[in-house]
Amino acid sequence: MSLSGTDDESLIAAAAAVRLQAYAPYSRFAVGAAIRAEDGRVYVGANVENASYPEGICAEAAAIAAMIAGGARRIEAMAVVAAGAQPVPPCGGCRQRIAEFAAAGTPIHLATVDGARRHVTIGALLPFSFGAAHLPE
Ligand code: THU
Repeated sequence: MSLSGTDDESLIAAAAAVRLQAYAPYSRFAVGAAIRAEDGRVYVGANVENASYPEGICAEAAAIAAMIAGGARRIEAMAVVAAGAQPVPPCGGCRQRIAEFAAAGTPIHLATVDGARRHVTIGALLPFSFGAAHLPE
């Protein structure tokens, strides 16, 4: 399914809405993520921090977990929303998590709460990536 600009904005709006549910008492940096999956549904997640800092999870990972729990397996498009001057790109670990369920050309829409936008693909964020094809049969 190709996404129109309106669809991109609705995905960003879903990420902005779930961002408000983030549990980020340590960094105070709330992030929301939304996935449009192959079933046409939108799955969302927010970051969930922990007093044991490394145990926190990113918004992107939470959205992927929601997608899998919902029965979908492919990311058609994803949006990530945070506050700040510039849109926030997914961390390295989340790039690998996204790539597991997306094609190189899958669009990732990065947005700030104030309206800044940056549109990239997961292939651009994670070139020459390791994947299932590299594993022996
Ligand atoms: N974080 C995300 O949830 N997604 C990103 O793309 C970047 C970072 C979270 C992790 C942590 O809870 C907080 O933002 C500060 O790093």
